[in-house]
Amino acid sequence: MHIRPGTKDDAEQIAELHTRSWLTAYAEIMPASYLNASLLDERKAMWRTRLAAETAEPDHARCALVAVEGGAVVGFAYLAVQGDGRVLLDNLHVQPERKQSGIGRRLVCHAFGWAAEWHPGRTVYLEVLRDNAAAIGFYRRLGGQPTREFVERFPAGFELPVVEYAWGPSSSRVIDWPPESVSGDQLG
Ligand SMILES: CC(C)(COP(=O)(O)OP(=O)(O)OC[C@H]1O[C@@H](n2cnc3c(N)ncnc32)[C@H](O)[C@@H]1OP(=O)(O)O)[C@@H](O)C(=O)NCCC(=O)NCCS
Repeated sequence: MHIRPGTKDDAEQIAELHTRSWLTAYAEIMPASYLNASLLDERKAMWRTRLAAETAEPDHARCALVAVEGGAVVGFAYLAVQGDGRVLLDNLHVQPERKQSGIGRRLVCHAFGWAAEWHPGRTVYLEVLRDNAAAIGFYRRLGGQPTREFVERFPAGFELPVVEYAWGPSSSRVIDWPPESVSGDQLG
């Protein structure tokens, strides 16, 4: 398994994994009617747009990372700098069959590396559904601190409590650094 920057050719596989991960991880959290609707089509459109932009014009304001094994995408993460200067870890998903095998940790490690390279001194944060106990256990294990709690209203019309976890610039983000297979230059 190695981790590399995502390109537009990864859009389909990422969208499929993203959808499957939501169906698995959020089955007991989100309404079934929402999960059974047009998730895959929406994900495909989103990733095609994101990765086409990134491939055409890398600007270091965002970054897709994919974990690849034998040509298959087994995990991914997406980072985007926000208006307040913080770096949002917007999506982090590992193939359901490959959870708890270290892929998530390596993706987060690369994400921290990218943030340190292109946005030094900035906080990295993410938003996780409060009922996603497994992911919260993972973030806590990696030293994330809960910094905010709020209720998110989804466009489909339901609301869910969300917790923000953050890693400040001076917090110990050295969880497995440096990564073995990607340099900052490659991450663009
Ligand atoms: C959350 C997720 C990304 C974690 O990735 P992963 O590859 O399964 O996690 P790793 O194997 O890298 O685990 C790293 C460490 O976290 C710990 N950990 C992982 N899952 C955990 C859990 N459910 N509870 C407590 N600790 C956990 C591991 O034991 C490991 O600790 P160790 O290094 O001391 O052994 C992955 O499980 C996933 O895709 N979940 C579904 C989608 C999701 O919820 N994404 C987050 C959206 S906000």
